Amino acid sequence: MTTTRRRYLTRATDLSQVPAVAAFLRRLDLGDFVPEGLVSHTGRNENWSGTTTSGHAVFVKRLGGDSQDVRRRLRGIIAFEELREDAPGTTPRAPRCLGWSEEDALVAFEMLPLSRTGAELADAKEFDEGHARQIGELIGELHGLKPSGRVRLDASVPSQPSPAAFEALPLEIHRASSAAELRAWSILQQDTELVGAVEELRRVEAAAATCPTHGDLRLDQLLRSGPGFHLLDCEELRLGDPARDTGAFIGEWLHRAVATLPGPARNEPAGAVPADREVIARGARELHRVRPLVRRFHEGYASTGRPVTHGLQLQSVRFAGWHLMDRVLAQASQSSVLHPVQRAAMGIARTVLLTPEALLTTLGLKD
Ligand SMILES: Nc1ncnc2c1ncn2[C@@H]1O[C@H](COP(=O)(O)OP(=O)(O)O)[C@@H](O)[C@H]1O
Ligand SMILES: [Mg+2]
Repeated sequence: MTTTRRRYLTRATDLSQVPAVAAFLRRLDLGDFVPEGLVSHTGRNENWSGTTTSGHAVFVKRLGGDSQDVRRRLRGIIAFEELREDAPGTTPRAPRCLGWSEEDALVAFEMLPLSRTGAELADAKEFDEGHARQIGELIGELHGLKPSGRVRLDASVPSQPSPAAFEALPLEIHRASSAAELRAWSILQQDTELVGAVEELRRVEAAAATCPTHGDLRLDQLLRSGPGFHLLDCEELRLGDPARDTGAFIGEWLHRAVATLPGPARNEPAGAVPADREVIARGARELHRVRPLVRRFHEGYASTGRPVTHGLQLQSVRFAGWHLMDRVLAQASQSSVLHPVQRAAMGIARTVLLTPEALLTTLGLKD
């Protein structure tokens, strides 16, 4: 294993503390994990990857959270398996699911060898236009799947972005929020134009022609192994607005572009916000790099027969804006002070949500 790969690993929870995993693997006839070489990847849930005494390469994850939510997310994973099994034509590539246990909140997949996520490739500056096109195809294939009678896909609309949260944060979220997150929310809540833009996004979403969507797309949910990318982590799979996924791809690159923006200059106070014009100029330069990736993504998406209409592109950009805002809020939840770069990112996300047409032009998606 290379040192670069190590960066994306985390300390594995001692499996003797989680005996359900060994029992689960045995029930699936997969043997026991061999302790040598067992690793855990960074992720929302606990996970373990390694080879077993019976020679299988296995990735196991334990879904965290309350039992109702675990059941919902497990249902998403199972629905994805059923969708793929039932599809007559090309199905989106994904690691084979080896089994699950609702009682123990465990799910096992084949472990993909020599794999790297889209985020790892992007960090190493190795993410290229060919990769963008392959991911466009993968998402197009997912969106083109037709749920048969037995597959029960969640058709509810995702909870975020909730215009209600822009008016008043629910008490339980307020209690769990960091100072920086509360500061971010107070900025958002005073912004009536932004609230209007979020309402518009939700209106268009409610009227969209739905299809199976991943619902939580990020570059670390795409694993490249062998000939192409595999789709991971289908816990939020839903019948929904396709622009959520296509927008998330754009949003990931916006987020990366913004992460390169400078903090305050050395002689400025810590809380200073970099001058808007400077931020926008740098942002525009970074966006220029993103253009071909977004274009090739759409090319791959369209090659699967999915329509790429002006309406879809516009809504994708709105979702990209929300994706950026959501990533900033997630970062803020980890810190006490809202960093100037985060403030600047919120400003960019706001502009994208309010004037999606302008970003379409910047990204070269409009003639
Ligand atoms: N089948 C697999 N083979 C190899 N690595 C995997 C596999 N599935 C996931 N990973 C790695 O583990 C990470 C977390 O997996 P994921 O399913 O996204 O879990 P989480 O729900 O915790 O985000 C991924 O980003 C990837 O690096
Ligand atoms: Mg994940």
